[in-house]
Amino acid sequence: MFEYQPSANFLDSKIILVSGASSGLGRAAALCYAQHGATLILLGRNEAKLNIVYDEIEAAGGKQPAVMVLDLLKADDNSYQEVATTIAEEFGRLDGVLHSAGTMSPVLPLEHVTLESWDQQLRVNLTASYALTRHCLPLLRRAAAASVIFTSSTAGRELREYWGPYAIAKHGIENLMQLFHAELHSTSNIRVNTLNPGPCATALRRVAFPSEDPAMRPQPAALMAPYLYLMGDDSRADNGRQFSSQ
Ligand SMILES: NC(=O)c1ccc[n+]([C@@H]2O[C@H](COP(=O)([O-])OP(=O)(O)OC[C@H]3O[C@@H](n4cnc5c(N)ncnc54)[C@H](OP(=O)(O)O)[C@@H]3O)[C@@H](O)[C@H]2O)c1
Repeated sequence: MFEYQPSANFLDSKIILVSGASSGLGRAAALCYAQHGATLILLGRNEAKLNIVYDEIEAAGGKQPAVMVLDLLKADDNSYQEVATTIAEEFGRLDGVLHSAGTMSPVLPLEHVTLESWDQQLRVNLTASYALTRHCLPLLRRAAAASVIFTSSTAGRELREYWGPYAIAKHGIENLMQLFHAELHSTSNIRVNTLNPGPCATALRRVAFPSEDPAMRPQPAALMAPYLYLMGDDSRADNGRQFSSQ
């Protein structure tokens, strides 16, 4: 298990965008970042669920967050640019992005995967992380030191038959991180890393393992140490690397 014990308000001046902030690991990370002093921009497709996270942050004494509704299945260049423009107008810069939005369909041999399912998984699990990062680059460049965390998976680091487009998207995420690193490390203060949370009791996990008892797996809140480490200045020297929670 990754261990890290930051000081109480170590994210005090940070403005952090979290995709998939409405549930699971993204929600846990947003709550955790807010608890450590950050201002959160909560991005997701379901406004009602995002508003619950907003209320949870405020109830815990965190700074007032912002909510941005975006369905990553439908988003185009204009919608991503709108997100970036709104952040520029309201906050002026971004110190961090956690890409936690993800989708999964039941595991299947490739010969039975429909093109619709293929497209959806590539779009949410890979294309969205590329497009959101790309449109946020000018905002990230304005930070003294910015951190982008791409959420990977064991399925993106090993060969995992029957995990089809999800596994291909996660392998793509590793490659995307490496390319951004290669293109940004000598010309910007933006660091990029991947983080594999490992098995965790969330809705996405239940799609892949419907018969697994969720009590056998850790809750998202138990896996937050590397999420915190990578978002704070202690990780400034870590760039282009792969991390794991477990
Ligand atoms: N759980 C695991 O065991 C595990 C292991 C390895 C990697 N991961 C990765 O961890 C990340 C977080 O997943 P999770 O386990 O926390 O699952 P989760 O609880 O199902 O969270 C997934 C998040 O993505 C959002 N999302 C899905 N489709 C979207 C769309 N079209 N537009 C906008 N947002 C969308 C969901 O929104 P709604 O709330 O509206 O559904 C939710 O906030 C994913 O990248 C996943 O691949 C998870």
